[in-house]
Amino acid sequence: MEQYVIKGGTPLVGEVEIAGAKNAALAILAAAIMTDDTVLIENLPDVRDINVLLEAISEIGAKVDRINKSTVKINGSTITDISVDYEYIKKIRASYYLLGALLGKYKHAEVPLPGGCDIGSRPIDQHLKGFRALGAEVDIDHGAIIAKADELRGNHIFMDVVSVGATINVMMAASMAPGRTIIENAAKEPHVVDVANFLNCMGANIKGAGTDVIRIRGVEKLHRAEYSIIPDQIEAGTFMFAAAATGGDITVKNVIPKHLEATTAKLLEIGCIIDEYDDAVRVRAGKKLHRTHVKTLPYPGYPTDMQPQIAITLTMAEGTSIVTESIFENRFKYVDEINRMGASIRVEGNTAFIEGGKKLKGARVSAPDLRAGAALVIAGLAAEGITVVDDIVYIQRGYECFEQKLRSLGATIERVSTEKEIQKFKLSVG
Ligand code: EPZ
Repeated sequence: MEQYVIKGGTPLVGEVEIAGAKNAALAILAAAIMTDDTVLIENLPDVRDINVLLEAISEIGAKVDRINKSTVKINGSTITDISVDYEYIKKIRASYYLLGALLGKYKHAEVPLPGGCDIGSRPIDQHLKGFRALGAEVDIDHGAIIAKADELRGNHIFMDVVSVGATINVMMAASMAPGRTIIENAAKEPHVVDVANFLNCMGANIKGAGTDVIRIRGVEKLHRAEYSIIPDQIEAGTFMFAAAATGGDITVKNVIPKHLEATTAKLLEIGCIIDEYDDAVRVRAGKKLHRTHVKTLPYPGYPTDMQPQIAITLTMAEGTSIVTESIFENRFKYVDEINRMGASIRVEGNTAFIEGGKKLKGARVSAPDLRAGAALVIAGLAAEGITVVDDIVYIQRGYECFEQKLRSLGATIERVSTEKEIQKFKLSVG
């Protein structure tokens, strides 16, 4: 098991290049198998979840040619198996996108029920409701979802909850379902738009992605495409909060500032200075950070994936802040860890009350999931003394070269795997 060992207290300063969006890439890789032609995908993040999904795609028989860390060629003409192995789905929840992709292309898919970060109960009823509306029979048998149809047909689907995964999964299957599909109450996240743009590049006919009504005319076949994935707004936002929390000055490059608006608005509210450029955003920490209230919401609201990062920053801001998590019920598992670093957060239901103005002190903490793990690293960078973050395997799921990027901004952080290495780090930083 690897850990990060951090000596905190240094403001992070400099420029950092943001990778492609993990959550867009996961869906786009699955969608790439929907044609028998070769698809070239660029700006892929080199993170664990992506590498696992590529293995799963190759395991069902597709040709996967990783040209370099951010570019891959996929050819789905050689797929022999419409059944995805549990090994992959238990590691990454997003393997469920293969359900929509295989169902659209072959009218048959078998995918085990998903695992993923433990941030709540995470049902998939809306995905299944959408597939059924398209004419598929969907059964759950021995822990696997089996979706089958003699033929799919377009339909009018009203999503009961705004779901990124269900919107994308149903959009993929509907792309190859004859007739017209309308998805109402669709998710509007930038990665939903990116997946729609990619499918359209392959010849799909999708309109309205980015609004809450998506209209799809099914096509018989999809074709070759070359596509570059959008930048990762959550990775960008994480570095923006790293600037705020450490009293630093970071320019995040290769971003779409529009996608960062909810994060930018909160940073301004707490007293940071923001400069926006065409494809970069500079965040300078204010001399003092102020309290705020925040509630996570579907896009364009404040993202749940940025909730731990702002909460950790608010522990150091003056006054009492309130953070409400409205998307996933189990996303406050980092609170006990950060409180051991000197923070004062009390959770009641889906709301965290943060008594700010605390000086964080290094401690040994454990990453409970991907975004909370990244937030604990930020806390360690802001804290006085040494912090050890255990279970960084979660962080590696979604952040490319995290420690290298932080080091390039002046952080003192090492990835280690033994107690001896931790001791050596402590001695070397004094
Ligand atoms: C995606 O998860 C992301 N994952 C998550 O990012 C992100 O937190 C989440 O969207 C919200 O933005 C990927 O893209 C791979 P949802 P997803 O379906 O699709 C309920 C990260 O850290 N719901 O939009 O699983 C659900 O319980 C990860 O990168 C149903 O009730 O999220 C939740 O309350 C973690 N029935 C809400 O909808 C369903 O069928 C939103 O979930 C589906 C969802």
